[in-house]
Amino acid sequence: MSDDIQSTLHETRVFPPADDFVRQANVSGMDAYRALVDEAERDHAAFWARLARENIAWRKPFTRTLDDANAPFYKWFEDGELNVSWNCLDRHLDTQGDKTALIFEADDGTVTKVSYRELHARVCQFANALKAKKIAKGDRVIIYLPMSIEAVVAMQACARIGAIHSVVFGGFSARSLHERIIDTQACAVITADAQYRGGREMPLKPVVDESLAAGDCESVHTVIVYQRASGETPWNDGRDIWWHDAIAGQPAVCEPEWVSAEHPLFILYTSGSTGKPKGVQHSSGGYLLGAIMSMRWVFDYKPADVFWCTADVGWVTGHTYVTYGPLAVGATEVVFEGVPTWPDAGRFWKMIQDHKVTTFYTAPTAIRSLIKLGGDLPKQYDLSSLRLLGSVGEPINPEAWIWYYKVVGGERCPIVDTWWQTETGMHMISPLPGAIPAKPGSCTLPLPGIDAAIVNEAGEEVHDQHGGFLVIKKPFPSQLRTIWGNPERFQKGYFPAEMHGYYLAGDSAHRDEDGYFWIMGRIDDVLKVSGHRLGTMEIESALVAHTHVAEAAVVGRPHDIKGESIVAFVVLKGARPAEAEAAKKLIAELREWVSKELGPIAKPDEIRFGENLPKTRSGKIMRRLLRAIAQGQEITQDVSTLENPAILDQLKEVVR
Ligand code: WTA
Repeated sequence: MSDDIQSTLHETRVFPPADDFVRQANVSGMDAYRALVDEAERDHAAFWARLARENIAWRKPFTRTLDDANAPFYKWFEDGELNVSWNCLDRHLDTQGDKTALIFEADDGTVTKVSYRELHARVCQFANALKAKKIAKGDRVIIYLPMSIEAVVAMQACARIGAIHSVVFGGFSARSLHERIIDTQACAVITADAQYRGGREMPLKPVVDESLAAGDCESVHTVIVYQRASGETPWNDGRDIWWHDAIAGQPAVCEPEWVSAEHPLFILYTSGSTGKPKGVQHSSGGYLLGAIMSMRWVFDYKPADVFWCTADVGWVTGHTYVTYGPLAVGATEVVFEGVPTWPDAGRFWKMIQDHKVTTFYTAPTAIRSLIKLGGDLPKQYDLSSLRLLGSVGEPINPEAWIWYYKVVGGERCPIVDTWWQTETGMHMISPLPGAIPAKPGSCTLPLPGIDAAIVNEAGEEVHDQHGGFLVIKKPFPSQLRTIWGNPERFQKGYFPAEMHGYYLAGDSAHRDEDGYFWIMGRIDDVLKVSGHRLGTMEIESALVAHTHVAEAAVVGRPHDIKGESIVAFVVLKGARPAEAEAAKKLIAELREWVSKELGPIAKPDEIRFGENLPKTRSGKIMRRLLRAIAQGQEITQDVSTLENPAILDQLKEVVR
């Protein structure tokens, strides 16, 4: 095992859940947790089958639970038929039709509440509008919308008619959008004229126009545009239609398309080790089950809860814990258009107070930035409605954990540090808050039915405090089914031969003496910048696409707030700029270029020029060395295999 994967964190504080939390918890106490784990161990498939029968409303019950004949292309509940949107909406109409489903707060603070009955009507109407545009089961639909009621409606409407949605985060560029349109061969794009964030208006529809004009997008016959702003936007008659025109006259009922549990619900692109993002394909039945069980087990969902997950629907967290999980269990949830720091860094706390949020789920990067901008601000608000806090996206450092626990949670609320991925669809490792004592910085123990382990390069389990690769040994219902259009990449990347059929998560981790998991970081070239998953190779390909750039290598550097920041080492086609001013100008140009190519989230924080990159004699870029240089560390590593040692001094230079 390489020394990258050695544990350095030593955190010994333990926070058991308070007795009154334990008493009311869905999984109450360690014995209840262990009973579920044991049930799954005794008969893995039967365990998941029981939960699927109890928690999903099936149109046609399944008779086969797990089909592993063609592993790792697993199938769960395949002959069962259901509709995910029916499970999220229709199912609640008789029992709680008037309950508020969504509390939408716009950037400017305007609040709109939507009941289950109203949401159902809106989803049905929009589903009918899609059908009127000849969009049908199995068709791919790109959704490029801001956080909005409409984003939830659009996703649910696709699910209702069996169309496969692929949401593209509003911060991605025309090029990223174009790539996803082509890869999915989408027939429609759903977007808005513009979006508002932090008081600023940002156009969206023109980005769609630009990507559709970039060629090879003949598959797209319809663009549906939700009017969020002034409505002044370029128009392509025949292709573009306003959302309000599309739903005009459409009935507010729509018989759902009943699909097999294995029917793809969505494709969500995520970064990996190559320049091309992968289209992670999820199923309907297994995914829904994962969303529901984690709402109950991890978020300890109760009907009186007001649930708030701050993630954008452009990420998997926004899929599972905004669009599907909360609605499937019939929750009231907050959906927020804006940003945590506008009009000031008290926005989240004010919203928790105003909407009496009970369950709050956000990312460590947000927590760290809010500590920095106003660590005392939460004290100005009444946060007594909170009963449970959650964290996701990257390891939470113990300091941030303790602040979250004390200042936000009033030392009353358990924190669930949830480890999972786009690929897993649901939480995999997390405290069950009424059972598992928390340790700051650890995601603690696997959910029942999730067989997580740590292995070495040969796929052999390593025990206790040795670091290794995090794997899931048994298939589970919510896992990705394949990479859209690329089954080989799915098989090779996630189930490499040496892992004996285990799912290789791509993270390194270790376990402590209590068996708790501690995530140490990615084993591939994936960065987590402000909780966003970015591939270094994607940023490198974007840089190399610039006319002046010959070669580029991108690494991450630890960052107090963002988790990681992006440092790019660039070799130019011509000479390096001699003057600092010229260098600065070029750096600014390259940063803008990446922002335009991929989206502002991928903009490098620092760019350094060298005449070459440090490479081994076989031509491999020595990334570990670059990481050390980026962090300003002394080079203690063996550089004897380095083809061109003189290059290191150049790369240490930072243009200021
Ligand atoms: C990281 C986000 C530590 C991890 C749901 C994983 C975490 C990647 C945690 C997936 C956590 C996510 N503790 N690391 N609680 N949660 N990660 O696909 O490296 O955007 O592999 O899914 O985020 O990122 P993704």
